[in-house]
Amino acid sequence: MGIFSSDIKGLDGLFVDVLGQIYYAERQIPEQLDVMISKATSPELKSGFEQHLQETRGQIDRLEQVFRLFGKEPNEITCPAFDGIAKAGNGMISKIDDPQLLDAFLTHAAQMVEHYEIVQYGTLTAWAKELGRDDCASLLQQTLEEEKATDQKLTRIAESRLNARAENATSTSSNQFA
Ligand SMILES: [Fe+2]
Repeated sequence: MGIFSSDIKGLDGLFVDVLGQIYYAERQIPEQLDVMISKATSPELKSGFEQHLQETRGQIDRLEQVFRLFGKEPNEITCPAFDGIAKAGNGMISKIDDPQLLDAFLTHAAQMVEHYEIVQYGTLTAWAKELGRDDCASLLQQTLEEEKATDQKLTRIAESRLNARAENATSTSSNQFA
């Protein structure tokens, strides 16, 4: 984007651009989830990632429907914010050997992605309504609810891990991560 460029015109142009960014992200997430499924040790975390992999495939379909309802062909637009989150996650995964520590990090990395998605889908849902496209808004809202539910599930997993760790620490006075 140059200083004098003005490729994006109007809210509908902005909507399609950000739609392309989340489409770019969603199309990469299955591959990332495959890695996370293979690395996760906690059965709850692993099954949570597997469920979200199925959901993600449906979310990609929904995005393609939104593009077409809007009269556009599905088009990925590179999103540096998503690239940064993915790069940070991959870099850390390769540096952690301890399985419990890796589970803790994978939960955190997944929540980083969920929060990115919640912002994107929340904004797109609002813009779709503003543009009078309730058909697009309702599809985007469905995905927004799935992302929020996934984020809440990850929070529960993180909390239960912390609780288990606290119980273990009081019974053995040992630090699992030491
Ligand atoms: Fe998603």
